[in-house]
Amino acid sequence: MVKKFLVGVASAGMALTLAACSGGGAGESTDETSAAATGGSEPVVEGGLVGVAMPTQTSERWIADGDAVQSGLEELGYEVDLQFANDDIPTQANQIDQMITNGAEALIIASIDGTALASQLEAAAAADIPVIAYDRLIRDSENVDFYVTFDNYNVGVQQATSLLVGLGLLNQDGSEGDAAGPFNVELFAGSLDDNNAHFFWQGAIDTLQPYLDDETITVPSGQTDIEQTNTLRWQQETAQKRMEDLLTSTYTGSDLELHGVLSPYDGISRGIITALQNAGYGPSIADGLPVVTGQDAEIASVKLIADDIQSATIFKDTRKLAAQAITATDDYLSGGEPEANDTETYDNGVKVVPSYLLESDIVYADNIQSLLVDSGYWTAEEVEAGVAE
Ligand code: GAL
Repeated sequence: MVKKFLVGVASAGMALTLAACSGGGAGESTDETSAAATGGSEPVVEGGLVGVAMPTQTSERWIADGDAVQSGLEELGYEVDLQFANDDIPTQANQIDQMITNGAEALIIASIDGTALASQLEAAAAADIPVIAYDRLIRDSENVDFYVTFDNYNVGVQQATSLLVGLGLLNQDGSEGDAAGPFNVELFAGSLDDNNAHFFWQGAIDTLQPYLDDETITVPSGQTDIEQTNTLRWQQETAQKRMEDLLTSTYTGSDLELHGVLSPYDGISRGIITALQNAGYGPSIADGLPVVTGQDAEIASVKLIADDIQSATIFKDTRKLAAQAITATDDYLSGGEPEANDTETYDNGVKVVPSYLLESDIVYADNIQSLLVDSGYWTAEEVEAGVAE
């Protein structure tokens, strides 16, 4: 994966901030190289400290997000305090407290529980520190300034669409497929404390509803409510266990065959696939493994897609998300406001948070090359190995 994040030259706003911070006039050096060139007498001007709080390192996407945000901000001259919280809410709260104590001038937060950071956010607001919610909305607080994310409802639509394509009910171009069904499907949702999980679920269910209504698709377990299908902290092991339980309770010893599983995230998908293969399905889709969806284009899952084991995933280009977070931070720290492209969708319970939404794509085996390799997200060797270099 291309880890280096290219931002180009500092924006005009950033240059102004640097000039203002240095207290110098026009033409004054603001970078280390030219300070050295003039004999090193000028102090090196820093762009200020930005705190970046990421949820966990157990999923490679958050590591990539953290790397991209850090390197992009550093290229603009900011100092970055990047922390991962091991999916533990008190750890994340402490990390953010520490960032504020250390003088962070802006915070970029991908929360674990979108409602659990109230006191940190109050402290940030009291110190005039702008807070940018990263990919996951921070809920129930006045003190979140901006939100950078993807069109999460549409991600859910794409997940359900990829399930319908995998089952043969739709073709990739959206036209009706050759298959007639009926199909047996089980449903998985993400972590209830993550606002995104509800958007993914709603987009998916709205898309599946006509097929559920006319019984082209049935859910033999009867578990069709997000309260029954959610996966705390998006954990692979939790998903594997639930899939095992579903097989035991509903399929084993009956003549029911499972045809597809809606999964909202690649880690969950891998847990589901392990349970299915252990129960004798597959090993590949061609051998009868149910169609399993996903999200994030994690390299291990991209290889499974290339190998006809996972059916599809949703590609959300974390480089573009990081770029938006960096632009928003730089806008705030230059005295401006970031530009939103959505000011309606993301009501956090207290206010509608101005948002910048990005688009996502469905990855199938036959577009791994065009979407992921040609764009430099993964190399062909990484896809072949299933491991990031
Ligand atoms: C969500 C995010 C997904 C996936 C999931 C599990 O908040 O939008 O892309 O990463 O968390 O980490």
